[in-house]
Amino acid sequence: MDHIDMKQLLLNNDIITSEAVTATLTTELIGCQIIVVSSIDSTNELAKSKAKAGAEAGLVVIANEQSQGKGRRGRIWHSQPGGLYFSILLRPRLPLNEAAKITLLTGVTIVEALRKFYRLPAVLKWPNDILVEGKKVCGILTELSANIETINYLVIGVGINCNQDPHSWPDDISETATSLQAVIGSSVNRKQLLERTLTHLEYRYQEFIRGNMQEVIELARLYSPLLGRTVQVITSQDTFTAKAVDISDTGALIVETQTGKQVTLWAADVSIRHPNFK
Ligand code: BTN
Repeated sequence: MDHIDMKQLLLNNDIITSEAVTATLTTELIGCQIIVVSSIDSTNELAKSKAKAGAEAGLVVIANEQSQGKGRRGRIWHSQPGGLYFSILLRPRLPLNEAAKITLLTGVTIVEALRKFYRLPAVLKWPNDILVEGKKVCGILTELSANIETINYLVIGVGINCNQDPHSWPDDISETATSLQAVIGSSVNRKQLLERTLTHLEYRYQEFIRGNMQEVIELARLYSPLLGRTVQVITSQDTFTAKAVDISDTGALIVETQTGKQVTLWAADVSIRHPNFK
């Protein structure tokens, strides 16, 4: 088999190994080291322990399944085979308050990939849920270590429901989530999706480091299913109904409460309420 055939085979194959990903990935930073494990508790946990041991920025940890996949707010992320589960280690020399923007830019990047390569009407429900036809296909969990002023390291964990059968999920999950295979009608090549995502993420991340975040903010607004809608907001202190009015240039969600007060949200769970809900 000549070199071209081998490259084509690696591109088309959906077997994720560090050698196969390294052979076809063309990024400089993200993916400079790739660790692939068949099963693990959580890729975020392994990426964090590697970070503590001094691993370089750009490390990507990928698993075929996770026994204790973690979601936001202490939730479980069901991670059976067929999904794509990976964590990226970054070490941006930035103040802590810049971290939320990296989660947002990751969300925008994945929405762009799903729109461009699979022609899916993907949207980004602020801050980090990716939905297709109203159901979640991807979640992002960012964990970080920082001192008072700056970020030490940041781990972005991404879970994409690719080729799982939603009928095999518990009812409460299949009511609100779906897989790419279920919406497209055929399986997706997870390795290709991974490489497309990492490649585009590197571009978006480097632009962000250069201070160019405006395009991402505009795309976050464009792809938001929340703006202009009545939403229920759950923060660590409070639950209330409001209207989502904007995503600020700093990446925060701005909502207007029923008394007309504008509230800037940095972290919250936001769900769309039926318009007739009072
Ligand atoms: C959410 O929507 O609540 C976030 C889900 C994040 C899941 C991913 S899967 C890869 C990485 N490892 C984890 O344990 N969680 C993230």
